[in-house]
Amino acid sequence: MVSDRTQSRPSAHGPPRPPATVSAVEITVIDHPLVAHKLTVLRDVQTDSPTFRRLTEELVTLLAYEATREVRVEPATVTTPVAPADGVRLTHPRPLVVPILRAGLGMLEGMTRLIPTAEVGFVGMVRNEETLQPSTYAERLPEDLHGRQCYVLDPMLATGGTLAAAVRFLVDRGADHITCICLLAAPEGIERLGSLLDDLKVPCTLVLAGVDERLNEKGYIVPGLGDAGDRLYGVV
Ligand code: URA
Repeated sequence: MVSDRTQSRPSAHGPPRPPATVSAVEITVIDHPLVAHKLTVLRDVQTDSPTFRRLTEELVTLLAYEATREVRVEPATVTTPVAPADGVRLTHPRPLVVPILRAGLGMLEGMTRLIPTAEVGFVGMVRNEETLQPSTYAERLPEDLHGRQCYVLDPMLATGGTLAAAVRFLVDRGADHITCICLLAAPEGIERLGSLLDDLKVPCTLVLAGVDERLNEKGYIVPGLGDAGDRLYGVV
């Protein structure tokens, strides 16, 4: 299923978007002038780390507003100073936010600002710079994720391998609703994510601030913003 916000049409804030061709993953590219503005400053090589971190958080909060559209709620009644009022509250188990270390950590604050009661798990993944294959080096997640909605945070969807591996990991533990939030994606990464998750039995949505032109031979998104982890935390 493909969101109508991803159709190939000129964007008011950037170049035309490629059509989303992913079958198992629903894609939403947020078309909003504030998102486009912040993303532009983020890309700028002149933007320093403190500004980059702050902008990343702000962007994620904006993306999270759309990404949580399907968050599960149940009816709740409160008493106002005037009268009872019917409303809703988040259900239990709470949503689980999963930043992929290290760069996903820079997105955590922006997400929990919107859902402060969410629980947080961590997955550490690196990709081999030669083979571009992901491997897990750390993990702190509940053993049982049945009934959980999970929000996976990873700023750059480049080859798609890391994100697909993280989604599989969560679904294998029982998660039944996955939303991935990324700042930027390469068309190749979107394609590959779709094919790697083609047989996924649970709903999976990808929310993005932008889709760029391509991947280069080193696996970087072009024009992208460089290495997101380095720009957030420095070259360590
Ligand atoms: N990871 C990054 O940080 N940047 C890219 O362009 C691709 C992967």
